[in-house]
Amino acid sequence: MPLTILAIESSCDDTSAAVVSDGYILSNLIAGQEIHRSYGGVVPELASRAHQANIVPVAHQALKKAGADISDINAVAFTRGPGLLGSLLVGTSFAKGFALAREIPLIEVNHLQAHVLVHFILRRGEEERVPRFPFLCLLVSGGHTRIILLKSHLEMEMLGNTIDDAAGEAFDKCGKVMGFGYPAGPGIDKLASLGDPKAFSFSKPSVKGLNFSFSGLKTSFLYFLRDRLKEDSEFIEKYKADLCASLQHTIVNILVSKLIRASEETGVREIGIAGGVSANSGLRKAVKDEAEKHGWNLFIPELSYTTDNAAMIGITGYYKYLKGQFAAHDIVPLARL
Ligand code: KG4
Ligand code: ZN
Repeated sequence: MPLTILAIESSCDDTSAAVVSDGYILSNLIAGQEIHRSYGGVVPELASRAHQANIVPVAHQALKKAGADISDINAVAFTRGPGLLGSLLVGTSFAKGFALAREIPLIEVNHLQAHVLVHFILRRGEEERVPRFPFLCLLVSGGHTRIILLKSHLEMEMLGNTIDDAAGEAFDKCGKVMGFGYPAGPGIDKLASLGDPKAFSFSKPSVKGLNFSFSGLKTSFLYFLRDRLKEDSEFIEKYKADLCASLQHTIVNILVSKLIRASEETGVREIGIAGGVSANSGLRKAVKDEAEKHGWNLFIPELSYTTDNAAMIGITGYYKYLKGQFAAHDIVPLARL
């Protein structure tokens, strides 16, 4: 009998449910929340309320799309954290209720570990196309920028982290000043393809080891715009594509140079990228170029698995199930995990 897991993700502003069977994804539904766009960022209370409204229909649709009956589900996996507490509470409570009613195991999942484990989702006919261990993964999202060494499915070591802002935050905050809605990353990416990446240069951080910093870049970008706008109030509109291309080029450069260093220091050439920012076309191209140069066995996630999704929670839940790692029903979500 297949092992079929219902997975729930509700850590930030996407309500997602997936059905994962023996490591294959049968469905992966995501309900985004447009409401935050006009606020320039995620409003926690609005996010919790939207999750509350969406969770039951999204889970129902995920089961339907997978062709699964409630009685086919052997376990429920949910995101325990990190994330917004009110958002996490909705998914946690739903998962507990489902597990209790069906008398099936409950599995808690760390959202960051899940982003990395997307690379272990199985595809029919391509079962061999998964990373070997040790696996080095650059995890870049709106809340995190880390270099993670995966020693086995469930054993992670953090080799580098941001000391201030995350890469996605740099995209979003700089984008906000240029007039983009939230999140700004996808819009910047699109416009960057029309601009010159060398048009402007912004200060790059010098941070020790494999750590990152993005707050200096953000400030340098803001001051640069402030000065130019004094001379020409239309500066942003005139040079928007060049600004996007140059900003993206700088961020990608910072990320990729640390990834190269991590590979050199560890000797690991099984390399991947993950998280929302791994959707960025500049980053995807840059790591492909480096993979050719350095002989990396490279893993780039499908676009639907880059931003927050329940498929990644389901695949992590699958490996935890195989190890018998279940959660008790008094478990609570943690904003910082
Ligand atoms: O992983 P994710 O969905 O949520 C977090 O866990 O943070 O990542 C969201 C982040 C946002 O900062 C968004 O601007 C960024 O990913 N992002 C992108 C692109 N698509 C999403 N950044 C740059 N280029 C993109 N194409
Ligand atoms: Zn995420």
